[in-house]
Amino acid sequence: MKFFLNGEEREVNVDADTPLLWFIRDTLEMTGTKFGCGMGLCGACTVHLNGQAVRSCITPVSAVEGQQITTIEGLSDGESLHPVQSAWVKHNVPQCGYCQPGQIMSASALLAGNSNPSDDDIDVAMAGNVCRCGTYPRIKAAIKTAATELAYEAKKGGVNNG
Ligand code: FES
Ligand code: FES
Repeated sequence: MKFFLNGEEREVNVDADTPLLWFIRDTLEMTGTKFGCGMGLCGACTVHLNGQAVRSCITPVSAVEGQQITTIEGLSDGESLHPVQSAWVKHNVPQCGYCQPGQIMSASALLAGNSNPSDDDIDVAMAGNVCRCGTYPRIKAAIKTAATELAYEAKKGGVNNG
């Protein structure tokens, strides 16, 4: 079977029930996507499946056949940071950093579908992403900054929202 990872077609040569996270990290050696709980409870392993945030630790590779997967490595266009990443830098969001790829992937999926999220929208969308360092206030501030930036880029016609 095959699927598309960050725009590139990938052949899958592991058991169909292998978690997508293992295929990404162990087979492809792309370690930006993190392992936390392995049970869909912490959000560290979040990637995009056709633009939606999913937990790759509980997503078998068989479920993504022919689909588009984006990881943190593919979020930007390779030239400049995605607005969510820029906002993370601006707000100095990470502490230890371990949860942050998953946080960014959830935040970018939220903003792709809701360009002006309320506090409640953010709380709901980010509820499954745990941060042991307690960076939640900075995460929320960065999401609001990214929303403003994305709205500005959309007005200019140059949106890059992953
Ligand atoms: S490692 Fe996937 S949700 Fe925790
Ligand atoms: S920054 Fe350390 S777990 Fe989130």
